[in-house]
Amino acid sequence: MADDLISRTFGGVRSHIAAARGRDPATAEASSLEILLTWPGVQAQLAYRLSNRLHRAGVPLLPLAVSYLSRVITGIEIHPGAKIGPGLFIDHGSGVVIGETTEIGENVTLYQGVTLGGTGFQAGKRHPTIEDNVTIGSGAKLLGPIQVGHGAKVGANSVVVEDVPPRSTVVGNPGHPVRVEGRKVTDGPDADWIHLPDPLQDAVKSLSARIKELEKQVAELSGDPRPDDDDPHGEPKKGRSSAGG
Ligand SMILES: CC(C)(COP(=O)(O)OP(=O)(O)OC[C@H]1O[C@@H](n2cnc3c(N)ncnc32)[C@H](O)[C@@H]1OP(=O)(O)O)[C@@H](O)C(=O)NCCC(=O)NCCS
Repeated sequence: MADDLISRTFGGVRSHIAAARGRDPATAEASSLEILLTWPGVQAQLAYRLSNRLHRAGVPLLPLAVSYLSRVITGIEIHPGAKIGPGLFIDHGSGVVIGETTEIGENVTLYQGVTLGGTGFQAGKRHPTIEDNVTIGSGAKLLGPIQVGHGAKVGANSVVVEDVPPRSTVVGNPGHPVRVEGRKVTDGPDADWIHLPDPLQDAVKSLSARIKELEKQVAELSGDPRPDDDDPHGEPKKGRSSAGG
């Protein structure tokens, strides 16, 4: 029993260090001990593993006390009731908040200042569900019981209050997809400022076409076909003007 606990604890430590190594280039020069002692994202998750276990065992006070202590040391607040899958990496960490009913899948990356929070005072499921392989940029706020599809990226400082499609990139406030499956999303306001419509030119062209049509009809009625009729586009004739000069 104790052996099992020790081996699971060491396994957990190793997996958190491996997640940091896999996603933070700054770990290249660092030993595992250095990562363990100075990477707040790793420490916060070890504290979460303990607080979550105590929470599930129904122990009073201690889970929240562990979570509080971890927040004081790391600046990362993870509620003991949150459900977190393997491979989570929290880079830098400070200011990260993970609410009680948050669910996080596998291999998710969070940067500093990310909030996985609720929108108000409602009870029940009120925090986001993050699927596998999602990356959430620094300062992003994801609010409410929304679903973030697998492989999605949320841009730094986005405010996301609606579901995020899988394999999409969402940015801005309110967060909106700018890429889905690697393709640019073209919905939304037309940002082509070069080819703006010219309503005056359009009106003149339309009037000109109407006048030509009327002239043609008058010429047909009067039996006096005009030489201009051969030119459907009404281009001005080239060469010397018949008016002389
Ligand atoms: C969103 C992000 C993940 C890039 O994803 P991507 O799929 O590679 O998307 P792109 O870089 O091609 O950007 C797509 C569009 O969104 C815009 N964009 C990217 N990030 C944005 C952001 N945070 N806020 C607003 N717009 C953003 C880009 O300018 C681009 O616009 P365009 O299509 O008009 O050119 C990245 O920009 C980001 O914010 N990463 C977070 C990194 C971070 O927090 N680092 C902290 C390290 S300490």
